Amino acid sequence: MMQSHHIPVMVNESMDLLIKKKGGIYFDGTLGFGGHSSEILNRLNSKGILVSTDVDSSAFEYCRKRFENDKRVRLYNFNFSMIDAIAKLESLMFFDGVIADLGVSSYQLDNASSGFTYSSDAPLDLRMDKNLKTTAMDIVNKLNEKELATIIFEFGEEKKSRKIAHHIVNSRRKKIIKTSYDLKKLIEEVTQQKYLIKTLSRVFQALRIYINGELENLRQFLNNSMKVLKSGSRIVVISYHSLEDRIVKEFFKYEELDCICPKDAPVCICDKQSTLKILTRKPVIPSIDEVKSNKRARSAKLRAAEVL
Ligand SMILES: C[S@@+](CC[C@H](N)C(=O)[O-])C[C@H]1O[C@@H](n2cnc3c(N)ncnc32)[C@H](O)[C@@H]1O
Repeated sequence: MMQSHHIPVMVNESMDLLIKKKGGIYFDGTLGFGGHSSEILNRLNSKGILVSTDVDSSAFEYCRKRFENDKRVRLYNFNFSMIDAIAKLESLMFFDGVIADLGVSSYQLDNASSGFTYSSDAPLDLRMDKNLKTTAMDIVNKLNEKELATIIFEFGEEKKSRKIAHHIVNSRRKKIIKTSYDLKKLIEEVTQQKYLIKTLSRVFQALRIYINGELENLRQFLNNSMKVLKSGSRIVVISYHSLEDRIVKEFFKYEELDCICPKDAPVCICDKQSTLKILTRKPVIPSIDEVKSNKRARSAKLRAAEVL
């Protein structure tokens, strides 16, 4: 069995917000190496049920072995955006709580062969779900300069996106970009040393978000979750960058509103109803001690809401 080096983030904070019923039915959309899932199980009694999923087949296989003796667990190797379809497959009408701990696991980042990192040389892949057709190598070698710059700017929030895209497109005419080090080298050639780490992280993040459709999946997950949550159910999301956090924040805010009429409308004519109550007015962040012992936690933000 491969080793998991992933340390789950804000486990107690997330569980305290998620679990209200010891015999309830819970959904973990980002199973990973089972960090949050196993804590959910610790807090459930023998009647509880946990349905967990991950698009990464290595994470799924790891957890299949990890939880094989626990009859309360149902595992899927599906996208979490399919939460409503998964509920149907399990003949479940509702969950009592759902959690998503977004992004990639430390295993995916640290495992050289998975091609997620610029810290080691590997084929430029960046797919969490190896069934997806497009890899990072396809993107950097095929998209035009404008498309590449837009991806790097929008999903990496990198100001030098146009310069980087221009250099990629010029260079690939001479030599195909095949590996993470090929791309790293190109970024190094147009970036000042003092900005290098941040720029590398932003470009790799941008490609990863684009290839995996991460923001769209998150939007669908939030929307589809509402179909399988009932009054009193909780939704908890841990995000690691501002693009994800903004989507969660805006979604919760919109769902909480009970009127979306223009401000100057004399009477309310919309039928909007408030469907969520936000439980975290400000996002919960990890303690200083947690950040000290787990560097990956430093950018984490947790938001939670309860269905009305
Ligand atoms: C931060 S890790 C989760 C770690 C997990 N909470 C733990 O403690 O072990 C994120 C996981 O979510 C998975 N993932 C990302 N987007 C997904 C999606 N749309 N559907 C299902 N899994 C997804 C990744 O493959 C990765 O394993």
